[in-house]
Formats: sequence, structure tokens, C-alpha cells
Amino acid sequence: MLTSLKPLLKVARERNFAYGGFNVNSAAQVKAAIRIHEIMRSPAILQGAEAANAFMGGRADFMNATLEDKKKGMKQLVELAHRYGDNATVPVVLHLDHGRSFEVCKAAVDAGYTSVMIDCSSLPFEENVEITKKVVDYAHPFGVSVEGEIGVIAGQEDHVKAANSTYTNPLDAVEFVRRTGVDALAISYGTAHGAVKGKNIVLRKEVPIAVNECLMRSNLVASLVSHGSSTVPQEVVAEINELGGTINGSGGIPLDQLQAVVKAGGINKINVDTDIRMATTRNLRELWVKHPEVLHNPKVKAIYELMQANTKAFDPRLYLTPILD
Ligand code: G3H
Ligand code: 13P
Ligand code: NA
Ligand code: ZN
Repeated sequence: MLTSLKPLLKVARERNFAYGGFNVNSAAQVKAAIRIHEIMRSPAILQGAEAANAFMGGRADFMNATLEDKKKGMKQLVELAHRYGDNATVPVVLHLDHGRSFEVCKAAVDAGYTSVMIDCSSLPFEENVEITKKVVDYAHPFGVSVEGEIGVIAGQEDHVKAANSTYTNPLDAVEFVRRTGVDALAISYGTAHGAVKGKNIVLRKEVPIAVNECLMRSNLVASLVSHGSSTVPQEVVAEINELGGTINGSGGIPLDQLQAVVKAGGINKINVDTDIRMATTRNLRELWVKHPEVLHNPKVKAIYELMQANTKAFDPRLYLTPILD
């Protein structure tokens, strides 16, 4: 069954845990992610970023992709979510990650996404409020949940790029949630997008705690989301580089810090993309280097799918997601 984020986040707030929000770029990943969540008895949050939609719509040159290209990819991801999610034994969410405009969010809602993120956090506050509110007004009547963002998260993901973080101001968060009505809010508190997050990361868990406290005192309800949360396992970085890669994966987010933030009641969704891309990259490099004969094998697609599915990166246990009743 496909569902919006809303009922899932309610349970996570009440029972104080976080789901993983896992980015997918292919049929094999959709299948693998849902299968692993079924085994772990956890709802699955699958996320399609704008680049994923462009890629699945046939455009590898993401920056030049048109809305039409993205719509083509959205249609495919929605079909995949239904193909593998409709009869799944856990609820499945298909969430647009980092939508950058009203038009893209509208296209995702129209295509059948059950949740969307509008990220206008790089615009002035008033414009961010205005566009986010417009997305909420469009999405909510369809039962589609909305995630917004305020603050600057360091690193690069797709078009989202920043050298340094600017942590989310709790009073801005209150005003933003009050005026937009978002269901979830991405905040900046020390995480970073991408494989190069820097050494000695210290998450500022007092930021989400303060935001939650202020929301509660204002009688507002929204779940906080941790973006840029890949752990960037150093053994996977080493394996990719041994297989000819050149990843400078200088440290990810320490898992124990993420778990501490969740335990402190700070966060209800933890977004992961880089770890999944790295697992896929590692597996594909191994395939090309150790089994080049598959390049001539008509069954190469099946092997490719197997390699992509062979990833531990989708494991919801990492983020303290409890087993369903
Ligand atoms: O901007 C580009 C897209 O996010 C693709 O990124 O080359 O890391 O897969 P990637
Ligand atoms: P990572 O780059 O750490 O995987 O972050 C993913 C993310 O924030 C998706 O929106
Ligand atoms: Na931002
Ligand atoms: Zn993100």
C-alpha cells in the first residue's frame, strides 16, 4: 500500500524513533529497498530526487533536464512504487526529494507521488514561505504530505550546494511551520550532503531539540528531518578506490551521533543517498573488474540488478526504527 508520510511521522513522534528516507534511482533499488523493509517489518520511505527523476526519464545530464524529462522519470518511479509496493506487507511512501520549484512538486503530486519536499531554503525567508505554502495548498487536498526546509546544509546534492552550514533558527522554524502548514521540516544542525563531509563531525543535537521545544510550546506539529546523513563507510570508500575509483570520502556522519539525536527526541526521518550510491558503485566496479565477461552476457541486466540489490545501505535498523507491532 502506498501512503503519505503523515501517518508514519505521527507514530515516530509518539514513539520517539526515526525512519530512514532512502533515495532510489532504479527498479532494482526500489525492489531491494522494499524487500529489506519487509524483512525488517518497517514502513519504507523511498525518495526520488530531481536528478533521479531526470535520470529515469533518460537524461544523465541532470542540469539540462527539462520538466518534461523529469515528468517521464516521475511516471516510471510511480509505476515502480506501485509494482513493488501495492502488495507489500509494509506501508510504502514515494517522496520527492529536494523539489526546487512549485512546478516540479505539482508534477510529482500529479504523477502519483504520495509525499513531496519543496526546498526553497536558499531563497529569502519570505519567498521560501510563499512557495512552500503554495505547494502545501496544492498537495494536501490530494492527501500528499509536504516537507519544507530552512537553514543551510553544507555539501552538494544535485543543485543544492553550500560550502558551510547555517544552523536552523528555532524561532524561524516556528514561523515557517505556522505559516506554511508543512508536515515535516528539514533542518541544518551539522550534517552535510555528499561523500565529502569533513572530519570530526559534531552534530548539534541542541538545534533539533530547541526547534521541537519551540514548536511544541506554539502548539505546532511537524517532524524534523535530518538530511545529509550518510555514514560514508570508509571500508566501502577503500574498496571503490581499490577497484579504480577516486572517491575522496573524507568521513561521513557517525552512526552513534545520529542514534543519539534520535534518542534525544530530535529527528523522525534520516535521509540517505550517498551510502546507496556508493554501495552501487562498489558493486558495479567489482562486476566490471572481476567479471568483465558479463559485458558479453545477454543476462547482464539480471546480474546488474542482483549487484544493485546486494546492498546493506537500505537497512532501517541503523536508525533505530522499531519492529512493527
Ligand atoms: O548533479 C548531478 C546529479 O546529482 C548526479 O550526481 O554524478 O553524483 O550521481 P552524481
Ligand atoms: P547524503 O548525501 O548524506 O546521503 O544525504 C542524502 C540526503 O540528504 C537526501 O536528501
Ligand atoms: Na538549505
Ligand atoms: Zn538532502
